[in-house]
Amino acid sequence: MSHRSDWFRSVLDEAESNIRKLLKIPDAYHVLFLQGGSSLQFSMIPMNFLRGRKLEATYLKTGYWSAKAPPEAGFEGAVKILWDGAEGGYRNLPEQYELQIAPDSAYLHYVSNETVEGLEFQYIPESKNVPLICDMSSNLLSQPLDVEKFDLIYAHAQKNLGPAGVTLVIIKDELAQSAPEKLPTLMDYRTHIKAKSIYNTPPVFSIYTLMLVTRWLLHEVGGLEKMHEINIRKAQNLYEALDSNSGVYQPYASPACRSKMNCAFHLKDEQFYEVFFAEARDHNIMGLEGHRSIGGIRASLYNAVTENDVDCLTAYLQYFAQKSH
Ligand SMILES: Cc1ncc(COP(=O)(O)O)c(C=O)c1O
Repeated sequence: MSHRSDWFRSVLDEAESNIRKLLKIPDAYHVLFLQGGSSLQFSMIPMNFLRGRKLEATYLKTGYWSAKAPPEAGFEGAVKILWDGAEGGYRNLPEQYELQIAPDSAYLHYVSNETVEGLEFQYIPESKNVPLICDMSSNLLSQPLDVEKFDLIYAHAQKNLGPAGVTLVIIKDELAQSAPEKLPTLMDYRTHIKAKSIYNTPPVFSIYTLMLVTRWLLHEVGGLEKMHEINIRKAQNLYEALDSNSGVYQPYASPACRSKMNCAFHLKDEQFYEVFFAEARDHNIMGLEGHRSIGGIRASLYNAVTENDVDCLTAYLQYFAQKSH
């Protein structure tokens, strides 16, 4: 099958059109399907919008993933970390009043949902006239979004959008056109805008599946407001199970910053981890191991996880808590 066939063009067009409908994306923005994962965006953004400029790029360092982005920007120019949660072990997020951004910053970059620690911004930071750039890898399409507040949004597919291999970029035309000339061709957003996401061979299967996921969200779930309601119920159910057994479980994030997508928690008694994971597997619940940077347990509640799945998990958490008392 040719990626330049009319059929594949129709897949790309439907994927774009569904995403535009779901997120109500204005015409001033391009929707791009790129490769290289979100990690490549950590490099591509400063190449395009910091290289050769005598300005600082501003970053919020709020967790494992947002901490990966500033060193890449450091290869291209000056970087300022406006807020750093490392000392507190990334359990909190800044409040708006703590974010006084310099008006001559090249851009402000942040991560809306910290996948590892389970922290989610409950508001969109005010960047005044500074371009606002956000890594939404782990919460895009989980709730409605005001795209117009942003200049660039990116998210790899492998959380809420589809299988790994494709990275969605939503970029304001004005920002894309502000990049310097003579960037490596594939690293220049304008290349992908001009080629409508088929400059070179795209990951056709990932894009096809992403298109089906957006079709499901639009026509079966009924849009992002509906998806959001489901996600709120799932998260409430899980956090309630943890909070009502606080002698056994210790959620990682402070309550005001809790993520609806990733819930990281620890057992108060270290000696029970082995049996916790083994019995979870016996109950057919897999993949609960926490990220290697903080250990413990992590349950991810992406769109594909059903309310029934969460009921099974909370029933197991109740059972285990009673048993370990
Ligand atoms: C918020 C966030 N940003 C970036 C990344 C890195 O993504 P990738 O593996 O697609 O490069 C991840 C990985 O899970 C993530 O959760």
